[in-house]
Amino acid sequence: MTKTKVAVLISGRGSNMEALVRAAQDPACPFEIVLVVSNKPEAGGLATAQAAGVEAVAIGQREFAKDREAHERAINAVLRARGIQVVALAGYMRILTPFLVNAWEGRMLNIHPSLLPKYPGLDTHGRALQAGEVEAGCTVHLVTAGVDEGPVLGQARVSILPGDTEHSLSDRVLEQEHRLYVAVLAAFCRDLAGV
Ligand code: GRF
Repeated sequence: MTKTKVAVLISGRGSNMEALVRAAQDPACPFEIVLVVSNKPEAGGLATAQAAGVEAVAIGQREFAKDREAHERAINAVLRARGIQVVALAGYMRILTPFLVNAWEGRMLNIHPSLLPKYPGLDTHGRALQAGEVEAGCTVHLVTAGVDEGPVLGQARVSILPGDTEHSLSDRVLEQEHRLYVAVLAAFCRDLAGV
């Protein structure tokens, strides 16, 4: 089986990336994680990826000053050089410019810790608790120009329990994120390969 070559973009601990890397170790998995890129050189996920034998690259923003597109061009050059077919954003905490969004149109996925279209942006769990929601969850969607706005590929739901805090809720949602991202990316890559 030819596996789809996936790159994961992170900014921090990279637990979703790690879930994708682990899933990809199954010979039946339709994708391989070829590369992990972080915009933060200090991201913990870089060491996690390396420990799993995955190439991990930091492309920091500092040297590009305020030129966000130049930073993205540097990232894109590495993605193209490695023959990447699909990009998975996983806790990549920088809003993309149209350059990278357009370059990967239809081939870039993101995971967001809410049931989109509810609670795009930051502090999703705090806002869901504040609003008295009875359920929360996570969404994998295609990346388009609007932040957290692209077509939904899959969602997982989590009940909000009495006494839940942002911490307890985000822990439970995160477990579902790991499962959902693996399942949606696998289905996406099978579709792409026409199998
Ligand atoms: C996750 O909650 C993800 O949904 C959000 O940022 C968090 C990243 O966590 N976009 P991790 O780095 O994957 O552990």
